[in-house]
Amino acid sequence: MKGISGNAKLAGVIGWPVGHSRSPRLHNYWLERHGIDGAYVPLAVRSEDLADVLKALPRMGFRGVNLTLPHKEAALSLVDRVDPMASRIGAVNTLIFTDSGKAIGSCTDGLGFLENLRQEAPDVDVTAGPCLLLGAGGAAAGIAFALDEAGAAEIRIANRTPEKAQALAERLGPKARVFAWEEREAALEGAALLVNTTSLGMTGQPILNIDLHRLPTQALVTDAVYAPLETALLKQAKQRGNLVVDGLGMLLHQARPGFAAWFGIAPDVTPELRAYVLADG
Ligand code: ATR
Repeated sequence: MKGISGNAKLAGVIGWPVGHSRSPRLHNYWLERHGIDGAYVPLAVRSEDLADVLKALPRMGFRGVNLTLPHKEAALSLVDRVDPMASRIGAVNTLIFTDSGKAIGSCTDGLGFLENLRQEAPDVDVTAGPCLLLGAGGAAAGIAFALDEAGAAEIRIANRTPEKAQALAERLGPKARVFAWEEREAALEGAALLVNTTSLGMTGQPILNIDLHRLPTQALVTDAVYAPLETALLKQAKQRGNLVVDGLGMLLHQARPGFAAWFGIAPDVTPELRAYVLADG
């Protein structure tokens, strides 16, 4: 580790708490790999301090930041400009500070999801049939709007709380179709893509109960959960012959646009990076 100079380029991630974030490890891996004089730091900031901190950071030389829980929605109204995808999703995860100190917000979660599919399953066509999302929270919104922009013809949403599925469907428009949580297996019929965006299946959470027999075997199955990397859903899907993509790549790909903007190099998601981020426990 050669350290940084007085001219180091600075970025970071703001959250409360922030200690669980894998972003510092990820960005610092890329910084070291590309020999960039820069640093990416965790910033533990309470909600009531977010506005002040966002004003101060560009004055301290920061080029931008990522935002994580609980700030992704609140930041929308605190930035100077929001890109169209972020305003559709209703959340911001990446800020770029301009030379004059203005903050430009984007949400790269959905694009990270798509980029990961393109890299891991290049032959999969999200326009080939209905896409089914389990869940209707923040992760689901990012993925749903990205699928919409990628040309998915029908986006099915099944969520435990039906009002949340309905609200997301209304924001998506006519291609959305809501299914009751109890109807999630019926919603598999004819689907080209199944995505779990709930926390079910994550270490310490209940498992996701779903019988996949109505899902076409040509469908791609992916999970936003990446701890464990192979969830019970992915295992079950693989056993019956579906192509599967794990959730780690989405996390890594959503980080690329910020890194490129702040540090001037478009970084790659490689097997070595995946292993390095996973080794963090
Ligand atoms: P994220 O930003 O990761 O999407 P979130 O916005 O809290 O997190 O969303 C969590 C999702 O997991 C929601 O769709 C939630 O369903 P509800 O809207 O009904 O809360 C879903 N979820 C969490 N625990 C669940 C459980 N035990 N059964 C079914 N769905 C669950």
